[in-house]
Amino acid sequence: MKRSVKFLVLGLLAGGVAIAFGLRDGSVPATATAAGASNPGSTSSGEMRAALATPQDIAEGKRVAEASCASCHGLSGIPKPKDKDMPNIAGQRPGYLYLEMRVYQSGGRGNTPMNNAVKFLSDDALIKVAAYYANVDPAEPAPAPSGKAASAKPDAMSVGKAASAGCAGCHGETGVTSTPGMPNLIGLDPKYFIAAVKAYKSGQRKSDMMQTLVSAVTDAELDGMALFYGLQKPVKAKTPSPGDQSAGKTAAAACAGCHGEGGVSTGTAPSLAGQDAQYFIEAMKAYKDGSRKDDAMKAPAASVDAATIKNLAAYYANQAPQAPKVRKPLTVAEMAERCDRCHGVNGNSTDLRTPALAAQRTEYLQRVLRAYQKGERKSTAMTAMLDGLTETDIDGLSMHYARQKARSVVYMPLPSK
Ligand code: HEC
Ligand code: HEC
Ligand code: HEC
Ligand code: HEC
Repeated sequence: MKRSVKFLVLGLLAGGVAIAFGLRDGSVPATATAAGASNPGSTSSGEMRAALATPQDIAEGKRVAEASCASCHGLSGIPKPKDKDMPNIAGQRPGYLYLEMRVYQSGGRGNTPMNNAVKFLSDDALIKVAAYYANVDPAEPAPAPSGKAASAKPDAMSVGKAASAGCAGCHGETGVTSTPGMPNLIGLDPKYFIAAVKAYKSGQRKSDMMQTLVSAVTDAELDGMALFYGLQKPVKAKTPSPGDQSAGKTAAAACAGCHGEGGVSTGTAPSLAGQDAQYFIEAMKAYKDGSRKDDAMKAPAASVDAATIKNLAAYYANQAPQAPKVRKPLTVAEMAERCDRCHGVNGNSTDLRTPALAAQRTEYLQRVLRAYQKGERKSTAMTAMLDGLTETDIDGLSMHYARQKARSVVYMPLPSK
């Protein structure tokens, strides 16, 4: 059923200045269409009535709240700090409050205390109590972290950067060495990098010095370093590369099948482009004399003499390395930008059916986001949004929204002509 009510959404901003966000045909607000997976197309009059409540509706809603909700949610809608499981419903969007209560009523969202609390309430009571809680003052945002808490969970890139400081003396600050004989670490695929460090750790790849140096590196640091080096700008070797490059190029034809054209590998073999020439020569010697064991390299190493190796080393050192396929993880701010498309600027939804997230409680956000991700709480939009997010991402987003200032929204019907 199409309704002809038109909406004017007024946002009350910090200084109490009212501005118009949008004007829409009331049948289904644009963002609610994407959101309305649970209730496609049906803008029941309930949501709108909750949004357009009169002062008398709100007063009646307060009586419902006193009788049926206050024992848990309080009349303020803001839970006590000790009630970690409780959401904050103060100033939440009216259509959302109404719809969620309907979902609890139908058992679509399982939580026994809530299911029982709304089971016997009439639609009219739900509309009015939704209008009441939507109209109380929202909670204050969670305080910004300070001191130790602020640096509790650094991202992978910072972990990698910090850990790589201990490697810079030999491998260069960004993985480009200035000491002949030290391998460059840029342009290496993260999988190869990680496998190489683990091979030193286990002693499978022989280098007493490297084994000692990486013995204390944790898995998280190793992942972080692979990311850090993988994201550095690739540059050619800075160390000398005596040898005949064009002769090297000819000889390199035999290696391209595994190491790629110009030494940029697309398979499991390491990239050689831009590698330090002296390290290259020593690696080939090690394959030749068997001190570095690898089935794939045994025959190629045996097939080249010392002069050819020197030319190959010069050729590869002067090829331009390519950045490996490493995607920089999104920051919390970048992720939140995507969420804000539906949930409003800094989680202040201007859609009556989409929940506001600003100043919501951290623990509650963490819990429901995990529930969406696992499919325990159903929402097509939300499950798709959370695909691929890590535990750390969910914690970061939860803290981000808990710290945003909550702003009230007033929904106004347009006066009829
Ligand atoms: C016995 C305690 C209890 C009572 C009474 C109660 N609630 Fe709740 N309410 C909860 C708990 C716990 C949750 C969190 C449940 C969950 O995670 O699904 C909740 C969740 C909600 C939510 C979902 C919030 C969100 O952001 O999705 C709404 C809306 C809500 N309550 C409104 C009400 C209203 C209105 C009443 C009165 C009609 C009421 N509740 C009565 C305990 C209660
Ligand atoms: C004292 C100098 C030195 C320091 C410090 C050092 N390395 Fe090395 N690294 C070397 C040398 C020399 C080799 C070559 C060893 C060999 O022949 O296998 C090497 C090899 C490597 C390789 C293999 C490269 C390839 O292309 O196969 C990786 C990966 C590596 N180091 C990572 C690290 C990391 C990570 C750190 C810091 C935790 C570190 N290194 C610290 C000297 C150093
Ligand atoms: C059949 C595939 C294959 C061919 C052909 C091949 N390689 Fe390799 N190469 C590999 C693999 C796999 C590794 C990694 C082995 C390891 O972890 O020690 C490697 C490692 C290397 C390394 C050590 C790189 C580093 O960062 O430590 C050098 C140098 C090298 N190859 C040079 C060559 C040259 C020169 C040729 C041609 C003459 C060649 N390879 C031909 C598969 C191949
Ligand atoms: C396409 C629109 C859309 C996008 C984008 C979106 N959401 Fe949602 N979100 C919704 C809708 C609709 C609901 C209500 C679903 C329901 O009924 O369970 C919701 C519910 C939620 C809830 C539950 C609120 C409560 O009070 O219980 C949280 C938390 C949430 N979203 C966080 C996020 C985060 C974090 C992101 C970004 C990673 C995001 N959303 C992106 C539409 C969206």
